[in-house]
Amino acid sequence: MKRLRMSLPLLAAAATYGAAVSANEAPIGVFDSGLGGLTVLERLLDVDQVNNDSGLYGPDGVPDLARESFVYLGDQANMPYGDYAAEGKSDYLRELILKDAKFLLSTNYYTCTEEREPSGIKQRVKIIVIACNTATAWGLEDVRKYLASTDSDIKVVGVIEAGVRATLDQISATPDSPPFAIGVMATPGTIASGAYARTIRTELRARGVTGNIPILNQGCAGLADAVEAGLPSADAIASSNFVELVEQHRASGSTVPIKAVILGCTHYPFVLGALNRTLAELRVKGAPLANDFRFVDPAFYTAAECHRLLRDSGRLSTAKKQTSAMAFLSVANPKLPQECLTPDGQLTRKFKYGRSTGTDTVTTIPVPFTRERFGEAVFKNIRRLLPRTASLLEHEEGGEAASDE
Ligand code: DGL
Repeated sequence: MKRLRMSLPLLAAAATYGAAVSANEAPIGVFDSGLGGLTVLERLLDVDQVNNDSGLYGPDGVPDLARESFVYLGDQANMPYGDYAAEGKSDYLRELILKDAKFLLSTNYYTCTEEREPSGIKQRVKIIVIACNTATAWGLEDVRKYLASTDSDIKVVGVIEAGVRATLDQISATPDSPPFAIGVMATPGTIASGAYARTIRTELRARGVTGNIPILNQGCAGLADAVEAGLPSADAIASSNFVELVEQHRASGSTVPIKAVILGCTHYPFVLGALNRTLAELRVKGAPLANDFRFVDPAFYTAAECHRLLRDSGRLSTAKKQTSAMAFLSVANPKLPQECLTPDGQLTRKFKYGRSTGTDTVTTIPVPFTRERFGEAVFKNIRRLLPRTASLLEHEEGGEAASDE
């Protein structure tokens, strides 16, 4: 089996000669508020639904996007995105989301925070995957409108519609289905947006499923940040939120079984082990969970949708090249007044959620990814759960090409 190859110098060279590079060879852009989007990148790296040579539907053992390159942005300095709505700052969040998209569309970047002008060169992406539920909920339409305003044929894919379609497909929701309930675990911001409940209702209607389908919304405060920081408390926060979701259903007096819970935040697949342990405990206690209950991760459908859009618009890469990636994480601008920064150089919570739209002050800067930003415990999890992604990121850091050819 071929290992993934990181070809940073090649990407940079290609960008230098940007005009000569065919639009099909431009990278796929992926962004999240932090590492959660890597769970989507992993599916982009391994989705295999199509025979790459014939183009016919059916897996061929070669990932469908094996020839693509990726640019990943984690807006870590501004996370958690899920808290902006509760702070009354959803407009500021929308501005951040648009900035993320514009970064992926730009052709240069700061190699470090000390640079006066960005000296790094990268390629403009050919499609944007919003690998973040909160950003999809609050910013998908803004990004879509922005792309339309630039007369660009670049498409944007979010995770929410994909998550809902995945769920209703997996539980085979039809007009004849016996009564069932669906749960959503997401950031408080995603829940506050109402985007999941709206999309589930729309999709149920489209499938002719009428009647009262209970939707159990569980905003999981602090869970995404605990995962991002690799805190051991992440498992306990996940479990208690799942228990609360089930209790919420029980308290409503409904006896309809819960058939699925959507992992409505891209950070949550990291705590799936804890959620499954809690599931087993809840079953023993007779909780109203269907025998074929499942947690649904929207990532696979998102990746398949990205592939479909590229294929249908004739934008898949045709060059004989291996998968490669450039990854960026935002950091706080170290030139900000001292009172805006914590001792370890991050934005203070007060400053972060106190900012307003429309100012020119640069408060955060995306710079190339370094592994230390995640800490060893977190990176160990990335290696365990997202092997293809870990391999790409490690090779990028070393700047070395790796292959077992
Ligand atoms: N990973 C993001 C999501 O899918 C949210 C994390 C955050 O709150 O920043 O919603």
